[in-house]
Amino acid sequence: MRKYEQENSSDINLEDYLGEYEDKQATVEDLIFDRSRKKESLNGLWHYAVDQYDTCIRQHWFAERYTDQNGFTMPVDYSFDEWPTMQLPCCWNTQSEKFELYDGSMVFTRKFRYEAQNKEKVLLKIGAANYICRVFLNQEYLGMHRGGSTPAYFDVTGLLQAENRIIIQADSTRRPEQVPTENTDWFNYGGVYRDIELIRLPETYIKRFQIALVSDGAFNKIKVRVRLSEPVNTAAQLRIDELGLCAEIPVTEGAGEAVLEAHPVLWCPENPKLYAVSLSCAGDEVSDEVGFREIRVQGHDILLNGKSIFLRGISAHEESVPNGKALTDEERLENIRLAKELGCNFMRAAHYPHDERMARLADREGILLWEEIPVYWAIRFTREKTYADARNQLLELIERDWNRASVIIWSVGNENADSDERLAFMKNLADTAHAADENRLVSAACLVSFRENAIADRLAEHLDVIGLNEYFGWYTPDFRLLPQLFENSHPTKPVIVTELGADALPGHHGTITDKGTEECQVYVYEKQVETLRGIDYVRGMTPWILYDFRCPRRTSVIQGYYNRKGLLNPEKTYKKPAFYVLQRYYQELKEKWEK
Ligand code: GCU
Repeated sequence: MRKYEQENSSDINLEDYLGEYEDKQATVEDLIFDRSRKKESLNGLWHYAVDQYDTCIRQHWFAERYTDQNGFTMPVDYSFDEWPTMQLPCCWNTQSEKFELYDGSMVFTRKFRYEAQNKEKVLLKIGAANYICRVFLNQEYLGMHRGGSTPAYFDVTGLLQAENRIIIQADSTRRPEQVPTENTDWFNYGGVYRDIELIRLPETYIKRFQIALVSDGAFNKIKVRVRLSEPVNTAAQLRIDELGLCAEIPVTEGAGEAVLEAHPVLWCPENPKLYAVSLSCAGDEVSDEVGFREIRVQGHDILLNGKSIFLRGISAHEESVPNGKALTDEERLENIRLAKELGCNFMRAAHYPHDERMARLADREGILLWEEIPVYWAIRFTREKTYADARNQLLELIERDWNRASVIIWSVGNENADSDERLAFMKNLADTAHAADENRLVSAACLVSFRENAIADRLAEHLDVIGLNEYFGWYTPDFRLLPQLFENSHPTKPVIVTELGADALPGHHGTITDKGTEECQVYVYEKQVETLRGIDYVRGMTPWILYDFRCPRRTSVIQGYYNRKGLLNPEKTYKKPAFYVLQRYYQELKEKWEK
């Protein structure tokens, strides 16, 4: 008898009700290369219920048992297809005032038809659900995923019928042991907020397809890695017609890789050249649009395609007023275009993996990206399962965006206090990123070491680029300490000032010392620029932040539950005067670095 075919009365006394529903976790091992795949969308109207007490799991609603063992009808506490509907993907917080501040579980369900084709594999992909999602298909528990910003794939081969019922429980509860913890400086949007799709695949399919320029300073070789879903011996064919390249790659026990001579036009923000690449193998074929570039560090230099660059950046959360974290492509494009108007060649996608479309748009529009996992503030650094969660989110991000030329930096965290446990945790993450991807830099947004007023985070030794969050003129009001910080520091690698800034309520005026005024924000930016201009080992900056964003920690009358450090208002309809201070500086840097 299936575990959950117990009497429903067991749910009121069952403490460990989650039990098996913590198993079958979808991880990076389940990710597949899914671009250019035949997909059937399950986006649309889903019936839903708020499930504050996880009763769906406790009472096994998904089993849809309506009669007891004697055939008598039992009372049930759900009405799947009579529940109201919500258009998925979305953040439930933006769908109704009733749900605006709701942290917890919601249950979504719909039916769908499926015409099976012979000898195929079928995967269910959930683009992202914050923070945990549990999936049930046709009365069976399928599995779960933890991590609020990376995709989950579930194998549903052989489980689909002509008529199917799917249930997704999304749980946005903030917890100290999660990544991030229950305490962050951004709004905790809940829901299944990126695409839900069924992906049809041949019995043996291309599970991994990684392609990039070889990072050896010669710019004349492309490395291709292939992994099939089955350990077969065969050969794969790679084509890049525009480069006249058509090569065979031996595949042994399902894996193959090759280094091929090629002379592509190198991708860069000023010329974001993309090539159509295709890979066929074992009856399967996939394609992608890929830019070829090299990013390396040498001393204090950040070298893009061998040329030393300055990363003129800006930080951005993944948020819009109407859609929360479920941005539209138009909204992402607007953010990239605003960054470019500011004079940026770089953006920090803070503090968690943004939608994969962001990197695809950045590839196309020509802007470099810093992507990050939410190892943010006081993570439970001694808890093994927390490390496993962080490591899995990092590897899912790397696997997902591996072919994206715009992504140049993987960040393993933000503003974590320097302790032995934290150092071990973050070093292991940095080592994991280096091992998974030899084509990118690894960094983290580190804190100033206030005791020495220096850049002295022990993690820096394990990073390629040191990220530094410093708020002189704001949280550290004494500006005289800023030049001293840089004089006290002697980093042997490039530094990116990953955060600086000040709050300003749009249109609020006063003196340069009145916190929260536009004048104060302008003054902070001017003083920051005055100092940073002269620091040679600072080779990038991503001031905090492009536009104001929702934040439950910020309750002053200036803030009104928003973090007001944006250079624009939340609706992005108004540029604060500090926008133009940074824009002028970036114009100066562009002329200096790109002459
Ligand atoms: C921190 C943190 C941000 C936060 C910002 C602020 O450095 O990294 O997430 O929003 O400072 O205090 O505004």
